Amino acid sequence: MDIRKLVKKEVAGLRAYNAKEIPCRIKLDANESPYGFADAVKAVSGIRTNRYPDPEAKTLRQLLAKDLGVETGNILFGNGSDELIYYLITTFGGPVSYPVPTFSMYGIIGQALGEEKAEVPLDKEFDLDTDTFMDAVRKRKPKLIFLSSPNNPTGNCFSTDRILKVLEASRGIVVVDEAYQPFSSEKGMLPLLKDYRNLVIMRTLSKIGLAALRLGFMIADPGIICEVNKVRLPFNLNALSQAVASAALKRKKEFRASIRTIVSERGRLLEGLARIEGVMPFPSEANFVLLRVDDPDRVYASLLREGILVRNLNDAVKGCLRVTVGTPKENTAFLKALKKIARSSK
Ligand SMILES: Cc1ncc(COP(=O)(O)O)c(C=O)c1O
Repeated sequence: MDIRKLVKKEVAGLRAYNAKEIPCRIKLDANESPYGFADAVKAVSGIRTNRYPDPEAKTLRQLLAKDLGVETGNILFGNGSDELIYYLITTFGGPVSYPVPTFSMYGIIGQALGEEKAEVPLDKEFDLDTDTFMDAVRKRKPKLIFLSSPNNPTGNCFSTDRILKVLEASRGIVVVDEAYQPFSSEKGMLPLLKDYRNLVIMRTLSKIGLAALRLGFMIADPGIICEVNKVRLPFNLNALSQAVASAALKRKKEFRASIRTIVSERGRLLEGLARIEGVMPFPSEANFVLLRVDDPDRVYASLLREGILVRNLNDAVKGCLRVTVGTPKENTAFLKALKKIARSSK
């Protein structure tokens, strides 16, 4: 029996998301934080393993709502924001529109669910090309638009006035994916939530030290939350993640300190990269830096030989690698290795 013949054509045509474990000494490929919350894990000690977790994650919901200054009814949790992308596309359907290059899961999930995709290239500065985007909005009438700001993998925020233009022109839902907002100098869209009924803001704890928990959330009008909640799988947030995240959220000082260190290290990384011949870093508002190099495949392989894992993006952004900001020691080791590799290519 040929199993592939049974598979939906949209799924057969997909390539699985590339999340392989590659052995390395310094892991700078997945935009995780180098700082965790080991202490918060103690919070799981009293959990009853025989019972299902709280389906509404009440404790965590209240903590988060207070922290964000929103109502508990404005929040929906996902097993990572990846799951929320699934839920949003399941709820609203396509066409699904997004600029490219961007986070690959919008396209992968859209295709898996059999929805039409409308991809719009970013402009030369990696900002939204409003003319082309508006054209796509008018012609394709997307039900859902995903805007990652700061954008993965380019690192920049889209101009607020351009995001607002898209929000105003769209008859569908506009999801501003703020996975990297904590590292940005921009305020993000939260202050505008009340002004736009079609705005969904998506955030995650993955980039600020809790990637292992798989915990994302969206903030939106309760009307939207209510519809998306219909497709949410029951008990999608396990009890251990709820407990650890609640304990970690009480340690705001630690969160803030690690974010400050990452932002300052990002500055040092950018300066160091700009000084290496044949390397061109792009400005970043996130916890990673996109850099153009002469021969990305060779540089990627040479770094890995030194035990340093970065992301090779040559397929999606010609000539580019993406490096996550690590600890000061890791960043120094990365810069030193890259300098040596660049020198050896002469
Ligand atoms: C822009 C963006 N959104 C969402 C995610 C997924 O986050 P989560 O770990 O919450 O699923 C990522 C992960 O890299 C991302 O870059």
